[in-house]
Amino acid sequence: MTFSNTLILSSFILWQLLLITTPVPTLHHHHQGRTSVAAAALLGGGKWALLQSSIGITAMHMQLLHTDKVVIYDRTDFGPSNISLPSGVCRNDSQELALKLDCTAHSVEYDVVRNNFRPLNVLTDVWCSSGSVMPDGTLYQTGGFNDGERVVRYFRPCNSGGLCDWTELNNSLLAKRWYATNHALPDGRQIIVGGRRQFNYEFYPKTATTNKLFDLPFLRQTNDPAAENNLYPLVFLNVDGNLFIFANNRAILLNYNTGAVVKSYPTFPDVNPRSYPSTGSGVLLPLKGKGPVVEVLICGGAPKDAFSKAKNGVFVGALNTCGRISISSQNPQWVMETMPSARVMGDMLLLPNGNVLIINGAASGTAGWEYGRDPVLAPVLYKPDAISGSRFEVQSVTSKPRMYHSTAILLRDGRVLVGGSNPHVGYMFTSDVLFPTELSLEAFSPSYLYSGFDSLRPRIVAPVTQSLIKYGQSLVVQFGIDGPVKANLVMVTMISPSFTTHSVSMNQRLLVLGGMNNVSSVGKSTYQVTVNVPSNHNLALPGYYLLYVVHQDIPSVGSWVQLQ
Ligand SMILES: *[C@@H]1O[C@H](CO)[C@@H](O)[C@H](O)[C@H]1NC(C)=O
Ligand SMILES: *[C@@H]1O[C@H](CO)[C@@H](O)[C@H](O)[C@H]1NC(C)=O
Ligand SMILES: *[C@@H]1O[C@H](CO)[C@@H](O)[C@H](O)[C@H]1NC(C)=O
Ligand SMILES: *[C@@H]1O[C@H](CO)[C@@H](O)[C@H](O)[C@H]1NC(C)=O
Repeated sequence: MTFSNTLILSSFILWQLLLITTPVPTLHHHHQGRTSVAAAALLGGGKWALLQSSIGITAMHMQLLHTDKVVIYDRTDFGPSNISLPSGVCRNDSQELALKLDCTAHSVEYDVVRNNFRPLNVLTDVWCSSGSVMPDGTLYQTGGFNDGERVVRYFRPCNSGGLCDWTELNNSLLAKRWYATNHALPDGRQIIVGGRRQFNYEFYPKTATTNKLFDLPFLRQTNDPAAENNLYPLVFLNVDGNLFIFANNRAILLNYNTGAVVKSYPTFPDVNPRSYPSTGSGVLLPLKGKGPVVEVLICGGAPKDAFSKAKNGVFVGALNTCGRISISSQNPQWVMETMPSARVMGDMLLLPNGNVLIINGAASGTAGWEYGRDPVLAPVLYKPDAISGSRFEVQSVTSKPRMYHSTAILLRDGRVLVGGSNPHVGYMFTSDVLFPTELSLEAFSPSYLYSGFDSLRPRIVAPVTQSLIKYGQSLVVQFGIDGPVKANLVMVTMISPSFTTHSVSMNQRLLVLGGMNNVSSVGKSTYQVTVNVPSNHNLALPGYYLLYVVHQDIPSVGSWVQLQ
């Protein structure tokens, strides 16, 4: 019923028609190279906009909070950034490696609505760390490097005008967590998996019975001696309550309470790694209804020897494949698909209508200082429900390379916030280096935001943003649509906003709510549909979600809802 191929196809054709009828500059007067870029920009879907030319730091880690503000940070040992700490404060850290007395900030809060930003105070090193938002909306960040490797920091969001900031909790982790992955848990805690030379996991906060390290031999087994290739593992909570963990070229299903491996998945058919530094990306595909089929899609990466070759100045082509696997099936197998282009260090984001955006990254080399080449400037859309062979759609190009240490996250209004890129060991702002440190923020607007679709676009009337919703409840969703409504092409989705760094979007999850096949009219251009909020805590974790009404593939602006 939803995600209908014909509907996706027809909106795509409509979009293409709108583009074709737009006055087109005469391309044949340009040189060959410019022609292809211009043609791609015109033919591809979506639009780019520069939001800020500099936020002072490079967006290495990003998390959207339910205040529509984004917490962003890079690292304290990059040298002086381009934004000062508030009111003449300086960090005086004898442990610091780059700059012991540093009067610049390495974290900022970006206000999406006002399109402005302010510096935040982070004292210890947060480099290559991880995090997860707790059910009350507080971001907990864990680990980092040097004096930050066992620190937990929290950021409790505040409303407009508030000057909320980081609070650091020293010695809160049992192991160093550098390049680890976090995931929220149904009981409201979070799990922290792996990290460099850490073949184990731990929980935060800890209880009497979980105040210890849990061994995870899988991380030792997938640790390539030459390149590791298993850092920032992909971690997704399966609906049966076990954790799917992918590292290097294979995955397991883990009972995190006992440490038992419940299932081992087959190795990727080509055996090539997809984890850092052979960085691919992955998503849990949309979960539809009560007992959903659970599928994972992993795209891009770099061949096994790519890292050692990059060390010697040879930048091998990235992988152009995706593997899709049904993790809940009896006999799971990777089904391989080919992307329109190769990509390493891409980000994969779930869009409100259930499509996947693959964005950022490079076509050769690997993650790591100076090891990426050939930036991929065009994102690609993946339509999970289209027929195999017609799922990918190349989008329009940006002008900014987003290489190592770049990120992308979904915003409430359906845009994608894109930032970061610094493949250098310190900040390098000058243009005489390859891929200078990128301090800008851009927004990519997928084609569903095109104004030609406004008559199809739902506006949510209820639940209003910041509503509470309860497990198992029937939720009445009211919305307006100006044009004619196709009742069977309405769906309600919920997305948990991700903590994104190093191509891994932790906690990213999209639920398609069941029970929506009864749209009724409740007034002029106003409609109502009743959907079922899941009762399974393993399907829907407690906490904040963006709720969207989608009509003929066109999403509303989201409403923040807090699931309790
Ligand atoms: C940021 O860069 C601008 C432009 O180069 C410069 O004028 C400004 O002083 C820099 N600010 C900081 C805090 O480094
Ligand atoms: C920085 O801290 C050290 C002690 O750790 C102190 O000796 C030094 O004076 C401080 N510098 C400034 C500028 O505050
Ligand atoms: C935590 O560590 C930082 C940096 O070393 C230090 O400035 C701060 O005082 C410590 N906080 C506590 C509560 O020990
Ligand atoms: C559909 O909605 C209407 C009004 O909201 C309700 O009276 C009716 O029972 C619903 N039908 C089904 C099949 O749920």
